[in-house]
Amino acid sequence: MEKTEITEEMIFDCFAAACKSNDMAKTAESFVDVEEYENRVMYPEFARWASKAGYPKLATLFRKVAGEEKLHAVWLRELYSDIGTPQCGEDTQRAINALETIRENCDELIALNPDSVVEKALVVAIRVEERESQDIYPHFRDQALDQQDSKTAEVYQKVIDSESQHVHWFQAALNDFRATQTQIMAHSST
Ligand SMILES: [Fe+2]
Ligand SMILES: [Fe+2]
Repeated sequence: MEKTEITEEMIFDCFAAACKSNDMAKTAESFVDVEEYENRVMYPEFARWASKAGYPKLATLFRKVAGEEKLHAVWLRELYSDIGTPQCGEDTQRAINALETIRENCDELIALNPDSVVEKALVVAIRVEERESQDIYPHFRDQALDQQDSKTAEVYQKVIDSESQHVHWFQAALNDFRATQTQIMAHSST
């Protein structure tokens, strides 16, 4: 197989979507499973790429967001004390496998084209955070509201606000990144 590029879609495949179930406790379990995956696997891997590509500040941002994803899981665990080790969801397992596939070729590809991998990771991070804050978690919040569970709804709302902030952080980082690339290109052509 020719190893030439990591596409945005390949990186987006590393995103696991939490899954709403009719049973709110099951929804909570899927949420915790996904947030802990982002905390332990996905964002640390993005941070590793950024650091390998020579962008320590971006690596710090990915690690900071990873830490907040952990916090999201903690907030919900406080309400659902019996989650324990959540069952690894089907989509999480698929995402883990996708990430493993990338990792096999990644170091080589980062060496070939570091800026492209890092830029795509940022674009994907924005897509992930947008889906969570605008689509997936509002449904979780509304489910809790429908069941008159205001405590759970409040936690999901707090998570939505936090994921929206992640969108802004990543967007600002991407704007900076692109501005710097443009400057470098302008310099190299003069
Ligand atoms: Fe999160
Ligand atoms: Fe997030």
